[in-house]
Amino acid sequence: FLEKTLRPQYFAQYIGQDKVKQELAIYIQAAKHREESLDHVLLYGPPGLGKTTMAMVIANEMGVNIRTTSGPTIEKPGDLVATLNELEPGDVLFVDEIHRLPRVAEEMLYSAMEDFYVDIMVGQGTTAHPVHFPLPPFTLIGATTRAGMLSAPLRDRFGIISHMQYYEEKDLKEIVQRSAEIFQTEIVEEGAIEIALRSRGTPRIANRLLKRVRDFAQVQANGVIDRKIADKALSLLQVDSAGLDLIDQKLIKTMIELYNGGPVGLSTLSVNIGEERETVEDMYEPYLIQKGFLKRTPRGRVATALAYEHFGYSYQA
Ligand code: ADE
Repeated sequence: FLEKTLRPQYFAQYIGQDKVKQELAIYIQAAKHREESLDHVLLYGPPGLGKTTMAMVIANEMGVNIRTTSGPTIEKPGDLVATLNELEPGDVLFVDEIHRLPRVAEEMLYSAMEDFYVDIMVGQGTTAHPVHFPLPPFTLIGATTRAGMLSAPLRDRFGIISHMQYYEEKDLKEIVQRSAEIFQTEIVEEGAIEIALRSRGTPRIANRLLKRVRDFAQVQANGVIDRKIADKALSLLQVDSAGLDLIDQKLIKTMIELYNGGPVGLSTLSVNIGEERETVEDMYEPYLIQKGFLKRTPRGRVATALAYEHFGYSYQA
């Protein structure tokens, strides 16, 4: 049955990412027909686009259990062996932030993925010997913010590589409407559009903003979310008209005010705004690049004419 929770459970409920869904649906149908486990899947793309949700949907569509872990959680090979040991035939093992797996654990995954076994070292010193440990066939689903962060040997062992994209506004609008229904909150279409336009193409942000706008609608209006109350709430939350949050704004303004628009190095920029380099590269830059506010050049990052215009600075090339 199709229970209505915020996280979609099946492809039929999952809005957007049509290309990823269509491809995966075929591979899942084929694997089920052959009564085999699904080939390993790598999902990559910026945070908040539904990679974890997609892994859960894949497991549901395959009709198998999912076990979830993450790169930073696995500190030593034994942690990985313990998790692999719990798998039943066909199960999905979801490894979030797979690029942060320790090297020894990653190397253990090679044989696990390719031939469903691991060799573990037992004993100390002269008594140390490898023990062959067979595994049931399983599907590894790895999630990462950038495919380029994986080593080639690991990346090459994924038969299916899917790139999650920022959501189109019409899909985000639908997600906001669906979430509002689950929250039992009344929302007019223009209200949903306003939230969708200002969510950085990201469902996680759309749902978070929806909750805050709902609070405003409840306290300052009649509880119904329309365009006006959405705009008022989002402006107070300092989400600007292009959907840029405070950190996006600070990043671009720093480039313009301190570095004359660039080029400026990513590390310098990150230090200036007080964020990790990796956070800026994975979370902030991709959206600013897609929206045409920022460019990557061999000499560093550059603010575009559009960025100058958006923030009300005059631009000379
Ligand atoms: N909630 C968050 N992401 C969603 C999606 N892609 N489809 C439906 N509901 C969602």
